[in-house]
Amino acid sequence: MPSLLLLDSSADLETSRSRAVTATFADTWRSLGDDHTVVHRDLHRDQLPHLSNADLHFPPALRPAGSTVAPEQEALQTELIDELIAADVVVIGVPLYNYSMPSTLKAWVDYIHVPSVTAPFGDDPTQPMAGKTAVLVSARGATYDKGTPTEFDDHALPALTLILNGALGMHVETIVDTRTLTERFGGPADEVAKQHAELEAAHAAAAEAARRLG
Ligand SMILES: Cc1cc2nc3c(=O)[nH]c(=O)nc-3n(C[C@H](O)[C@H](O)[C@H](O)COP(=O)(O)O)c2cc1C
Repeated sequence: MPSLLLLDSSADLETSRSRAVTATFADTWRSLGDDHTVVHRDLHRDQLPHLSNADLHFPPALRPAGSTVAPEQEALQTELIDELIAADVVVIGVPLYNYSMPSTLKAWVDYIHVPSVTAPFGDDPTQPMAGKTAVLVSARGATYDKGTPTEFDDHALPALTLILNGALGMHVETIVDTRTLTERFGGPADEVAKQHAELEAAHAAAAEAARRLG
């Protein structure tokens, strides 16, 4: 039963590009058959609390003596990690907020990146997500084109790639939609046209990836 975990994090519930493109992925995934399941976690509508204790970054065996963590947060962490490990493919909507990922998505990362549980630690090679694919659907208001002065100003995709690929061993693919605010702020016609083309390409890429990975 191919299972998709879909995470959305945009605070825009009306016109979000990342939500639209992740929905195309999920709809295509479902169309592959009744056995293709989708677990949808909306990190904006149902926000996770921030970690109340830094020891939650480690499993009990790696916590300092006398450490106590809130049982409800530990239970939530277990639920999030179990949900992640049960997925065959993970799709994440990543709107760019202040050159980074939304804090709602960062909170999820803080729960699921746990050495010796989802990532290797010392001699322990544990890496249950190794080899699975994460598709990051990025939407940004401005332009971050190769060769321009803003090329390296996105700090969301690099940080997520470090965690999902570097730590969790996942294969990471990205679908990127830039210039999303061009039309709203009356940008030049050629930039509006580029934005439309990018959005269309992002939907096509999402559908293709769903068919290929499903
Ligand atoms: C809190 C906030 C911060 C933002 N910061 C940036 C930014 O640093 N760079 C940028 O290009 N766009 C920025 N934007 C614009 C969003 O990236 C853009 O609207 C994008 O389309 C959001 O994704 P969505 O369409 O899925 O909601 C910001 C928007 C918000 C709400």
